[in-house]
Amino acid sequence: MSPRVALVTGAARGIGAATTRLLAEQGWRVLAVDLAADDPALPYAMGTAAELSTVADHPNVIALIADVRDRRALTAAVAEAEDRWGGLDAAIAAAGVIAGGRPLWEVPEDQEDAVLDTDLRGVVNLARAAIPALLRRPAPRSGRFLAVASAAATRGLPMLAAYCAAKAGVAGLVRALGAELGDSGVTANAVSPGSTDTPILAESARLYDLPEAAAFASQQPMARLLDPAEVAAVLVFLAGAESSGMTGSVVPVDGGLAL
Ligand SMILES: NC(=O)c1ccc[n+]([C@@H]2O[C@H](COP(=O)([O-])OP(=O)(O)OC[C@H]3O[C@@H](n4cnc5c(N)ncnc54)[C@H](O)[C@@H]3O)[C@@H](O)[C@H]2O)c1
Repeated sequence: MSPRVALVTGAARGIGAATTRLLAEQGWRVLAVDLAADDPALPYAMGTAAELSTVADHPNVIALIADVRDRRALTAAVAEAEDRWGGLDAAIAAAGVIAGGRPLWEVPEDQEDAVLDTDLRGVVNLARAAIPALLRRPAPRSGRFLAVASAAATRGLPMLAAYCAAKAGVAGLVRALGAELGDSGVTANAVSPGSTDTPILAESARLYDLPEAAAFASQQPMARLLDPAEVAAVLVFLAGAESSGMTGSVVPVDGGLAL
């Protein structure tokens, strides 16, 4: 059997990097996509080209710098994966940003745009670019469209309204895609992480005037932050053929935060 092929966005660090690494270890070929540059609208650093190169320092991984807000760039990325490895089996939207820290109507518009455009539109862009490729695989298919939503998809978190709106949008998108994809063999699912130890959580702590990200641990019944590898493990299961009974699901991976 030829190896399965994945495209992962937000792959330079955090959950996207952990997912890329685990897929590669399991023999997948992975196109690791990241902006790999700071966003002038946002006050914290994005993943870097050096971090993306480190993730791609594996024979099964190729790095590609692209912005998920750029639909044509994602279409080109999908074409790159298909040309290089003969098709696409999983597209995983992990790229995301956070902003807020004040009521919605006081958040600078460029920050609101960054959140909505990356966290929701970026996922829609990947679905548009990648699902046709997943469907180009001959039947019987086991294509997987996956997105990283958030506990914020179901909770009204103050000072993070645009982020909550985008993540609820991702959950709705995945449910509708699951229905649309029907009996095609291609499925759409999402995970909703709780507080996971990555730079976006450090920025969330800053937005809430907390001393450090570890302060979020007490909100989760497990009383600790999650490791990105724990979220990646669920994404990699969902990417595999073994998740064939699931579509339109939004799976909490949150140490019990949603309980
Ligand atoms: N860490 C948490 O506690 C947590 C909780 C719930 C959901 N999430 C979600 O998990 C996903 C991954 O976040 P993370 O925790 O790994 O954060 P992170 O900040 O470590 O990683 C996000 C990555 O996305 C990249 N990125 C940002 N904008 C991009 C764009 N426009 N195009 C391409 N790449 C872009 C960044 O460069 C970075 O490498 C995000 O969607 C986030 O909203 C995280």
